[in-house]
Amino acid sequence: MAGIKAMISTVLGIPNRLYNLAVLKYRGVEYDKSLVINGRIKIAGHGRIRIGKNVVINSSLSSNPIGGDTRTVFSLLNGAELIIGDGVGISNAAVVCHHRVVIGEGAQIGGSVRIYDTDFHTLDAGRRSGADMLEAVKKPVEIGARAFIGAHSIVLKGAAIGEESIVGAGSVVTKRIPDHEIWAGNPARCIRKAQEGSEGSV
Ligand SMILES: CC(C)(COP(=O)(O)OP(=O)(O)OC[C@H]1O[C@@H](n2cnc3c(N)ncnc32)[C@H](O)[C@@H]1OP(=O)(O)O)[C@@H](O)C(=O)NCCC(=O)NCCS
Repeated sequence: MAGIKAMISTVLGIPNRLYNLAVLKYRGVEYDKSLVINGRIKIAGHGRIRIGKNVVINSSLSSNPIGGDTRTVFSLLNGAELIIGDGVGISNAAVVCHHRVVIGEGAQIGGSVRIYDTDFHTLDAGRRSGADMLEAVKKPVEIGARAFIGAHSIVLKGAAIGEESIVGAGSVVTKRIPDHEIWAGNPARCIRKAQEGSEGSV
């Protein structure tokens, strides 16, 4: 019975796999064959995207109900760079990368997380329009190795999350979080030290 279920799920997944392969090729994404995408990814723009080994991206309600009302979206401007390290997990999240976003190895990006390295619009009301994206302030975002970002959090331009640090669900990160700390709230503040990873963890 389990074998038949697995076979049906493989067959039903073929259209999604073909769709994702076409998107990755069209957008020129550099990735390893170990990449798993559950559901259909959305990629916009022609910036550079590099994805390491053993990365899992959930992009559907069935692969993760948390944030499953949206898909995983990578949106890049030309010249921008998104680097995703080995062993990263991403669930129904959006990364808007107009400059540079780096996600360190083994980091876990929870359901419906949003990572923005840009303000999207200029803060000068007189110059603001639907097409002012190039004038918006942009600062790189860095997510450290084995960091964990709780569901529905927003990581804003210039923010960084230290190695093995944790961001509580629904937080807004605007600053640099040091290594091995738990931050939460809006704006996120340190709530305590995080436990360091044991040997052999991802
Ligand atoms: C951040 C987190 C790991 C902390 O868990 P914990 O160590 O058990 O923390 P506690 O529940 O003991 O809370 C400690 C304090 O932080 C506060 N806090 C915890 N999580 C918070 C959050 N997400 N936002 C704001 N404050 C939070 C608590 O209110 C408490 O405050 P107090 O000391 O003033 O009473 C957890 O609350 C969390 O957000 N997990 C993420 C779950 C998730 O999104 N998973 C991914 C799904 S895809």
